[in-house]
Amino acid sequence: MNTSFEPGSAPEGFIPLSVPVIRGREWEYVKECLDTGWVSSVGGFVNRFEDGVKAVSKSAAAVAMVNGTASLHVALRIAGVEESDEVLMPALTFIAPANAVRYLGAWPRFFDVDPETWQMDVGLVSRYLRTDCVMKDGSPHSRDSGRRIRALLPVHILGAPVDMTPLLELAREFSMKVIEDATESLGAKYKGIPIGSLGDMGCFSFNGNKLITTGGGGMLVTDNAEWALKARYLSTQAKDDPLEYDHHEIGYNYRLTNIQAAIGCAQLEQLGEYIAAKRRIFKRYQTELADLAGISFQKTCPEGESIRWLTTICVNPDKFGADSRTLLRRLADSRIQSRPLWRPLYMLPPYCGCAVGNIPVAERLYLECLSLPSSVNLSDNDQDRVIRAMRCAVRGTHA
Ligand SMILES: Cc1ncc(COP(=O)(O)O)c(C=O)c1O
Repeated sequence: MNTSFEPGSAPEGFIPLSVPVIRGREWEYVKECLDTGWVSSVGGFVNRFEDGVKAVSKSAAAVAMVNGTASLHVALRIAGVEESDEVLMPALTFIAPANAVRYLGAWPRFFDVDPETWQMDVGLVSRYLRTDCVMKDGSPHSRDSGRRIRALLPVHILGAPVDMTPLLELAREFSMKVIEDATESLGAKYKGIPIGSLGDMGCFSFNGNKLITTGGGGMLVTDNAEWALKARYLSTQAKDDPLEYDHHEIGYNYRLTNIQAAIGCAQLEQLGEYIAAKRRIFKRYQTELADLAGISFQKTCPEGESIRWLTTICVNPDKFGADSRTLLRRLADSRIQSRPLWRPLYMLPPYCGCAVGNIPVAERLYLECLSLPSSVNLSDNDQDRVIRAMRCAVRGTHA
């Protein structure tokens, strides 16, 4: 039984987890780049894409980057994260934000997540800052590692916003910067405000499985004009003179190309439609699976609006009658792709020892959660097949 398929090798009738949908003006815009020769990292589409994301996130400035990880790296550097600092983040997320912290020689400190929203438990962060840290030179320092805590890195997972108010209050109280990893959640809102614009800087990803894609791409947004300039500078090899090769700092080649931005512009034109589709898919799963014992869904925090990027279920094995991995294999037998959530990051060799205390919730969610097919173009028929296969999985029969 195969649980993942390469392009072109998928069997007939295969239902993927989440694939890009190219049905707008992508071809037309890319052709314009090729016809005019504006194929590299400057061009009208880069500016237009930045303006578009600026508008969606209601931010004063946006800087396009080569991917979401790069935008996190640059944002953390601008926030002043330095070697041996500590950055506080959830244990249950993709590895990229932790890696971005390590690129700067700093260390992530992982916290357990809320059992309902699956997002970083702010109460635990608060307790850590109050009981396990001391203030020194205006910043909290961890008692055990002695490291300065420079920033909070909340991750809005699976399209859902983090409950930001208590987090922003902690950041203010303890003089820490907030970098929002909004890579999975473009268009989500918290208290009516688009995520990405709630903290000091926000980062988006446009890789192949995200809500909108540029093939690969990212964006840093901020209301701070100086930081936006700095982000542009650092992502362009820290070039100080338009003509001469003057560089006073070590920068990165992190700029997005005009071709990628052209795809992004076309995708952005369909954002509303995509979000509506994701929400419809979620609602349908929720309604149709409501009578299955042991299945629950990610809850959204009060005053949050999720875009439901990936519908993810939590499978209680005792009540459902099978565990999440058995369900994954049974769905795969029916040519349906599903996927577990991330292994808690402190369980991975590069991040052993970076957790605060026990992390039981993230460990349980890792074992019990499964993302279901959620592509924007998932047809009702295909979704019905997934739902039927889930019902058969309970009985141990084939769909
Ligand atoms: C939570 C999270 N952070 C960061 C990233 C990194 O984005 P990218 O793949 O564009 O580098 C991703 C997605 O890949 C992600 O899911």
